[in-house]
Amino acid sequence: MPRPLNNTETALTADNLLPLAQRYAGPFWAYDAAIIQQRIVQLSAFDVVRFAQKACSNIHILRLMRAAGVKVDSVSLGEIERALAAGFQPGGEDIVFTADVFDQPTLARIAELKVPVNAGSVDMLHQLGAVSPGHKVWLRINPGFGHGHSQKTNTGGENSKHGIWHSDLPLALAAIQQHGLKLVGLHMHIGSGVDYGHLQQVCDAMVDQVIEFGQDLEAISAGGGLSIPYRFGEEAIDTQHYFGLWSGARDRIAAHLGHPVKLEIEPGRFLVAESGVLVSQVRAVKEMGSRHFVLVDAGFSDLMRPSMYGSYHHISVLPADGRALSDATVESVVAGPLCESGDVFTQLEGGKVETRALPATQVGDYLVFHDTGAYGASMSSNYNSRPLIPEVLFENGSPREIRRAQTIQELLALELM
Ligand code: LLP
Repeated sequence: MPRPLNNTETALTADNLLPLAQRYAGPFWAYDAAIIQQRIVQLSAFDVVRFAQKACSNIHILRLMRAAGVKVDSVSLGEIERALAAGFQPGGEDIVFTADVFDQPTLARIAELKVPVNAGSVDMLHQLGAVSPGHKVWLRINPGFGHGHSQKTNTGGENSKHGIWHSDLPLALAAIQQHGLKLVGLHMHIGSGVDYGHLQQVCDAMVDQVIEFGQDLEAISAGGGLSIPYRFGEEAIDTQHYFGLWSGARDRIAAHLGHPVKLEIEPGRFLVAESGVLVSQVRAVKEMGSRHFVLVDAGFSDLMRPSMYGSYHHISVLPADGRALSDATVESVVAGPLCESGDVFTQLEGGKVETRALPATQVGDYLVFHDTGAYGASMSSNYNSRPLIPEVLFENGSPREIRRAQTIQELLALELM
């Protein structure tokens, strides 16, 4: 939930951010560890909370998760190595690799480390079984329907590439048997931004799958997808209700199998989105016909969500000179520095430019993009040859740089001169 910059329940206040903004003289991410810790506690009824680290894969954030007893979901070799660097152990329950394909180096390393695999295709099972018989596997099932905050984040149904199609479960079980793989459990993640109606449907689908295919299991995973209130007035998800639906499914499965079954959850956004902000500086203000443009020094190379999905992030103005902001607002288009028309933070899905009512800003002021802790830094790129920006973590109220800025020399270093 967007928190005003004078809200002292979090470290992300004007007083704390302004000195950092002045020191960096460029955009940066800031996170508040306390908010992440609160979100972890809200999910403590689940047997295992597994952080989908694609949402925010900084090693220090991963360490914080590990210290709070959270496990991790990795989706690439890079993410596995990040998890190991954060102290997660391979081979046990700590790390699960979820994907629909293996590239060859990833498969080799997973076989070496014995990281359990959540397979999204039957081919993965054959490839894994050929090099690592006895390996622990989960099956990611596509139940035939999905739901997301954007069509791009819907991961179920026949237009999605994700998971093993529900009626192909026997093929997956045959591959497991053929290679002597060890089945741990079934997993369903139907998208990001799931509503309760779809949730009930996916819980029922999980129970039906277990009953229909009669396979023994240790665990089920509810996937991720819990939404957060990006706008004022939006309801926060009721985690007790969410747990109630899934624990009901777990209990029905346990009763059918005749032994206890573990319930995992795999959120990304819920754990970190509200803990993070992106701070940028206003570098130009201009009128374009009827439009008032405010141009900042962060672009979609930093925060991609508005350009990619038309996502809404609340924007606060942080005056550079400490002046009080007037109550009068100006309808503003907020855009970045990239040489691309779509580099606009105020747009709808499909690219329609919107305005935002902001207090009058001047060059030098800072704009703070709220709730950018998930899929912010982790989706950044080097487009327009712009270096990655720093990340700062507030713990017990004090800031610590947890990733320095990339240098231009580092950007050029891969090219063979
Ligand atoms: N598990 C699996 C298998 C997933 O594919 C994902 C997200 C998650 C868990 C975590 O989902 P969450 O709890 O964060 O909704 N870049 C998009 C979101 C893409 C999510 C991809 N998979 C965004 O910025 O909204």
